[in-house]
Amino acid sequence: MRFHPLEKLINLQDSYTRNFKIDNLHLLLLQRDGVLYLIEGRCPHRGHPLDAATLDNGVIQCALHHYRFAIADGRLLQATEERCRGLRVFELVYEGNEVGVMLES
Ligand code: FES
Repeated sequence: MRFHPLEKLINLQDSYTRNFKIDNLHLLLLQRDGVLYLIEGRCPHRGHPLDAATLDNGVIQCALHHYRFAIADGRLLQATEERCRGLRVFELVYEGNEVGVMLES
């Protein structure tokens, strides 16, 4: 496992949204209501970018087909077509003045 720094803490604020790509992994770092989240950047349904998703009351809703996922654990809450797997949610790691993620690569 290796630490991948993503952002300096000083740059974080509510409404912060930023995409990252580490090898083939798309990640989305976002802060809402003082809480920072790191999730996969593409919807598990058909891969639509999630930076256009809405996030309300702990529920993230993809802009394309409106599938809804719990942002805390990624579970699928509502599907309008076939079901799909849950959303990958990553644990944030704080090191010094940065936040990042531990990944295999
Ligand atoms: S691609 Fe996100 S709901 Fe279909």
